[in-house]
Parts: sequence; structure tokens; C-alpha cells
Amino acid sequence: MAKARKTTRKSTRRAKSSASRPTRNDAITLLKADHRQVEDWFEQFQSARAGSRKQELAQKICQALKVHTQIEAEIFYPAFLEATQEKDIHHEAEVEHDGAKKLIAEIEKSGPEDDYFDARVTVLSEMIKHHVNEEEQRDGMFAKAKQSDMDLAALGEQLAARKAELMDGAATGSRSMRRGDANTTQLGR
Ligand SMILES: [Fe+2]
Ligand SMILES: [Fe+2]
Repeated sequence: MAKARKTTRKSTRRAKSSASRPTRNDAITLLKADHRQVEDWFEQFQSARAGSRKQELAQKICQALKVHTQIEAEIFYPAFLEATQEKDIHHEAEVEHDGAKKLIAEIEKSGPEDDYFDARVTVLSEMIKHHVNEEEQRDGMFAKAKQSDMDLAALGEQLAARKAELMDGAATGSRSMRRGDANTTQLGR
């Protein structure tokens, strides 16, 4: 189901002379918007009562996180490592993605009738909160990306295009997604 990704790697390093102008669609803006969206759904989950609503929110959260972690792993993280050589930050972020992926697969296989469903979603929200903080904090990944020569505008375009492609694929393949077929969304490494 997962389409083979052509590696059309354009240069994602800024020419040294060009200034770092944050644009509306730059990589950091796009990734932060994803973070805010998922945080909002986690909050709604905590106050939801009906099982059907919890199920709907959990599916949205899992789908959004799968797409988000995949575009980061395929596009943003490699560009970050190349530009900054910040191996520790990069590797820790990837390990955190792997941890989240396991829990996402378990949530997708279970449902609100499962005694552990709420606990899994709550623990996932805590893991993501920690991970988002690592990315957004002072001296974190995004701050270091902004200080580097990464071309955040070009990366933003690549992230947006890949996100649209993955969400399109998820919409047509949503049945296998609901079965929790996590192997179809392995990170592109
Ligand atoms: Fe992120
Ligand atoms: Fe991440």
C-alpha cells in the first residue's frame, strides 16, 4: 500500500548569503501547526465521554502522528542532521518516534471497549508532549535548525507535498489502517 518514494532530494541548504526569512509555509511553522492540532485532539479526548467520540479522536490522533513522524523522518530529520551534525538530538528524536509508533499500533488495534484504551492514549499524549517539547524548546531541534543553513522554506514545501500524498493514501487505505497494519507505514529509513 505504501507507495515507493522517489528520492528527489533537492538542495535543502540555503545559499550562505540569503537571509533566514520565516515564511508562512516554512518547515517549522508546518510542523508546529501539526503539534498544536494533535494537542487539541488529545485535550478533547480527555474530556470525551462517549466511546464513539473517543474512538474517532484516537483515530485522528494516530493518523496525524503517523503522517507527522513520517514526514519528519523522511525529510526534516535527515536535513537537520546533515546541516547541524547534532547526532544526539537527531537520534533521540528517532528513538522517541519508534516508541510512539509501538503505542500507536496498539491503540489502532484496540478500541474504547478495551480496558487499557484510555491508558494507552494518555501515555501516548505524555510521550508526545515530551517529544514536542524536545523539538520546540530553547536550544532544541527547531531552534538549532533556525540557526543553521537549512533552507526551511524549501523544506516546508517538501513536507507539505509529502504530507498531502500520505494523507491521500491514508484516505484510500483507511481500512487497512484501522486494522492497525502498522507495517504499511514504516518510517522511511
Ligand atoms: Fe514533531
Ligand atoms: Fe518528531
